[in-house]
Amino acid sequence: MNVCIIGTGYVGLTTGACLAYLGHQVSCIDTDAAKISRLRAGDVPIYEPYLQELLEIARPHIEFSTDYRSGLAAAEVVFIAVGTPPNPDGGPDLRYVCAAAEGIGEYYEGEFVVVVNKSTVPIGSGNWVESILRESFQRYRGRQANGRFAVASNPEFLREGTAIYDTLYPDRVVIGAENAHALEVLYTLYRPILDQSFTAPPFLTRPEEMSAVPLVSTDLSSAELVKYAANAFLALKISYINEIGRLAGKVGADILQVARGIGLDTRIGSRFLQPGVGWGGSCFGKDTAALLATASEYNLRMPIVQAARDVNRHQRDLVIERLLDELRILKGRTIGLLGLAFKPQTDDLRDAPAVEIVQKLIDRGARVKVHDPVAMNRFRQEQPQLAALRSATPEECVQFCDAVVLMTEWPQYLEMNWSQLATLMEKPLILDARYALDPVRVGRAGFRYTTLDRWNPAPARLAAATAGALA
Ligand code: UGA
Repeated sequence: MNVCIIGTGYVGLTTGACLAYLGHQVSCIDTDAAKISRLRAGDVPIYEPYLQELLEIARPHIEFSTDYRSGLAAAEVVFIAVGTPPNPDGGPDLRYVCAAAEGIGEYYEGEFVVVVNKSTVPIGSGNWVESILRESFQRYRGRQANGRFAVASNPEFLREGTAIYDTLYPDRVVIGAENAHALEVLYTLYRPILDQSFTAPPFLTRPEEMSAVPLVSTDLSSAELVKYAANAFLALKISYINEIGRLAGKVGADILQVARGIGLDTRIGSRFLQPGVGWGGSCFGKDTAALLATASEYNLRMPIVQAARDVNRHQRDLVIERLLDELRILKGRTIGLLGLAFKPQTDDLRDAPAVEIVQKLIDRGARVKVHDPVAMNRFRQEQPQLAALRSATPEECVQFCDAVVLMTEWPQYLEMNWSQLATLMEKPLILDARYALDPVRVGRAGFRYTTLDRWNPAPARLAAATAGALA
């Protein structure tokens, strides 16, 4: 099929690359000319594992342009995949969605096209986009659109860092539309994924247990709500385990064991029960705020979603509280942060807990050193006002620090030579804000190990480890 994708961010680019890989003919449009010329030159502007490799294979089927007219010329499906950054009032800023819909209305010359909202947009946006398409068409063409545009919602469930995997091997595909023909068109488009009939790329083999992918086809607003409800649920799962973590710290329980103990109940499930500094990124914070904003338009309170947000905010304060517990005074201290990205395998710093912690530490008069395997450039460009010392290596970051905080659980941090790192600090202290390090190993290396809930491995376990009884 001929597909046009407006917006070449994480969602647009991944969707475009995957659809082109499946053999569809994809035209990606973005108003950012610099980005388009980089993409044309084969350069991928974001860090996303396997995206570059997939784009190379898909190259004959994908093109990049700033021109709506050429991109839309043969399109049977148009995806709107532009950014919806948060407004100060919590609701998403829809100006880019509006501009994309106006552009489609202005330049589309064919008889029928399915316009798909892939960006996460508030409930009711499908109808709103349709009215913009119609009005824009009428304004520029001087005649009625007459059923030319059918709007559908096809929410995205991909995670940054595993975006290609999530797109090719999804748990489900959700499509919402009022128009039956639009549903059929999208069914055809996604058929290779639904049937898993495509040849898996060599670098991302199909999971063994993978079979046909369920399709959930709904009306527009149900599909829109699925997206928000899914993200809010994942967010509250994380906040729930963090809330239990705080109690675990008080009663001397091990939150990781508790998480495992509840997660193995198949009704609960083990994923998204990793305790730590809480969620960040461009989605959970924005989407839970948008859900609350929508609810308030209907005079509805959503105390569970609100509580998930409150707990998440408090987790960030806990980092400072724990450092104060340990060091008593932060003024004049040097704190090293390992990891800046909101999670591993991405260079995305949007709502990253580490960025907020840097600011909080500086506000308290601490000297802050930072390191991240891939996000250093972005940090320099996007946070020029933050006077943190950027370190080229983790060793440089740790050296002469009073405390080190593991902010992002990059695998390379977990595998570091902690014994050598311990020699670079006077009193080696690590606050594991992700509960990701092996406390026994790090403790044996000479570090005092602590977490957000003050959990330390049971003395018996440590003693056994020192005696060589534990690997
Ligand atoms: C999230 C959803 O997982 C995707 O399904 C959705 O498509 C996407 O938002 C979106 O709306 O576009 P993403 O923000 O890329 O994806 O990242 P996640 O892997 O969900 O992680 C979010 C945050 O939660 C990270 O900061 C991560 O460190 C944190 N997290 C995750 C935890 O603290 N504990 C966990 O157990 C899991």
